[in-house]
Amino acid sequence: MATSHLEEYRESIENPETYWAKAAEDCFWYKTCDKVLDDSNKPFYKWFKGGITNTCYNALDFHIDNGLGEQTALIYDSPVTDTIKQYTYNELRDEVATFAGALADQGVTKGDRVVIYMPMIAEAAIAMLACARIGAVHSVVFGGFAAKELATRIDDAKPKVVISASCGIEVQKVIPYKPLLDEAINLSNHKPEKTIILQRWMEKATMKPERDVDWKDAMAAARPHDCVPVEATDPLYILYTSGTTGQPKGVVRDNGGHMVALKWSMKAVYNIDQGDVYWAASDVGWVVGHSYIVYAPLLKGCTTILYEGKPVGTPDAGAFWRVISQHKVKALFTAPTAFRAIKRDDPKAELMKDHDISCFKALFLAGERSDPDTIKWAENNLKVPVIDHWWQTETGWAIASNCMGIEPMPVKYGSPTKAVPGWNLHVLDKECQPVAAGDIGTLAVKLPLPPGALPTLWQNDKRFISAYLDEFPGYFTTSDAGFIDEEGYVYVMARTDDIINVAGHRLSTGAMEEVLADHPDVAECAVLGVADQLKGQLPVGFLVLKSGTNKDNATIIKEVIASVRERIGPVAAFKTATVVQRLPKTRSGKILRGTIQKIADNEAWNMPATIDDPEVLGEMEAALIKIGYAGARK
Ligand code: COA
Ligand code: AMP
Repeated sequence: MATSHLEEYRESIENPETYWAKAAEDCFWYKTCDKVLDDSNKPFYKWFKGGITNTCYNALDFHIDNGLGEQTALIYDSPVTDTIKQYTYNELRDEVATFAGALADQGVTKGDRVVIYMPMIAEAAIAMLACARIGAVHSVVFGGFAAKELATRIDDAKPKVVISASCGIEVQKVIPYKPLLDEAINLSNHKPEKTIILQRWMEKATMKPERDVDWKDAMAAARPHDCVPVEATDPLYILYTSGTTGQPKGVVRDNGGHMVALKWSMKAVYNIDQGDVYWAASDVGWVVGHSYIVYAPLLKGCTTILYEGKPVGTPDAGAFWRVISQHKVKALFTAPTAFRAIKRDDPKAELMKDHDISCFKALFLAGERSDPDTIKWAENNLKVPVIDHWWQTETGWAIASNCMGIEPMPVKYGSPTKAVPGWNLHVLDKECQPVAAGDIGTLAVKLPLPPGALPTLWQNDKRFISAYLDEFPGYFTTSDAGFIDEEGYVYVMARTDDIINVAGHRLSTGAMEEVLADHPDVAECAVLGVADQLKGQLPVGFLVLKSGTNKDNATIIKEVIASVRERIGPVAAFKTATVVQRLPKTRSGKILRGTIQKIADNEAWNMPATIDDPEVLGEMEAALIKIGYAGARK
């Protein structure tokens, strides 16, 4: 690597083909590519066209072939079941190869989709890697989503097989997964031919013999399957993420670009080398889990940790320090909300004293804006660099970061530092013109996107263009508003769409509004993300009722809260709604969401010039105070 961030960055933007061709030399290819960047069908750029590879081979067998077979590849650490299980690269490869054989026994072949709906257990990673091994396309669905959300994803991905477990464990609650899966398959139009179910001892799932296969039986009957060579441009996975409607977007990730970018990022962004222990405390259902629990650390030949627990309550706010010290973790990646939870329960970090964490070298935060208080608390207590970095499901890896393996830079609180090599980042106004340094606009990436970013949406090129490329021709919009200062530091301020971030989980308020609007007594509604000290944001619903309804407000509120939980899932954390007489609107009928949000968050606001009836804002403020927001929090 060049010596300075600036040199690296310039090289990646001015000569992207040379830059990424060099990074690709670190990976194994059955056949190297014919063209590093194929731009013959813009805006559908293809990285490493003609290259033949296999992601699972690169993540496992490659290291075994290079003498790392006895190194620990994965540690499953589960305080909720009091289990710690280590897999060497040899052991993990053998499990993955056998499960790949089990999938093949169910008729899964290259290009088939497999939905994975599993808790944070090693078998989730094994299932993902087994799909990659045979060229099947996995789509992992986060366990906190409801059956309806799972059904939507099943209908879009059309999997041949669904892999699940009998239950997940949320601190002390056992959450049966199988009934949710059965309900989802009932709801979906597409019916998977088979399911493979891992029975956990704390909850036995009832099986449907004609469709459901026991994981253990499938493994016992299977023979190890070798890696199937795939095109670099073949899809590795689909990950559904919240969009601006109830219909989630199926973000596609290819094999070649993804593998090259992620392996490169381990050193460049995280300063992690082969053999280091790396921990992303997230969930395999999110992009962080895909990229930094499973793929990147294994591609780099590290030891990765798969943690089935929470930052607090499993058993206490010292859980992270215990894991770091016990497994000699060098770098941890988590969401700021996790640190806010720890800080809330153990403000003086007393529990840290019980553990030797001298192995720990850096903390990385992403998923939502890192508030300076949390960063400073972590810095003061951990005494290591605390790095805020910014990325999205769509990008797959960091757009902006302090690149610890290239040239660590001074931290500016509130900024995830500078654009990472590969990302030609700009701030644009509505006319697609770059704004002056320090001015706010939309953060947009000039095409082509670097390897590892989404090449399209699953079987929906049209939506890929309309959602990301139409607004600023020649650019990919991140839908994040922000600015870049004179020194190139990036500041990410807010989403420009209806996405909110609740405890680091990405959710669409539009999708929640769809649920609320379906209630027979609701005439009109709005859902907003209001500031929350722990979770960053929380959704709050405002309901205007139809006249003549004979139910009382409290019952209707209870019903809509239950509907969101049932249709989207507990992860939505939708627990507050209120009834108002009317919603504040512009004269053209647009709900003044920004103003309501400012009132709720107790921020200064101006009377919008276009408001239809200014009095409505007073009513809104009174309603917010009643439920504990606006002036109530002064
Ligand atoms: N399966 C089933 N249910 C799940 C679930 C899963 N995988 N994950 C969360 N849920 C449920 C929870 O049990 C909770 O249900 P409840 O309403 O019955 O209590 C609800 O979804 C909300 O969960 P969560 O957002 O995790 O809130 P919490 O109050 O339980 O915990 C934190 C708060 C901050 C400790 C927790 O959100 C956390 O650890 N966040 C880390 C963020 C993270 O990993 N982000 C990923 C991107 S980096
Ligand atoms: P997800 O797709 O779930 O990773 O969510 C991506 C969104 O989370 C981004 O578009 C941002 O709005 C927000 N986000 C992620 N990381 C950061 C960060 N470091 N600072 C500010 N916002 C962030």
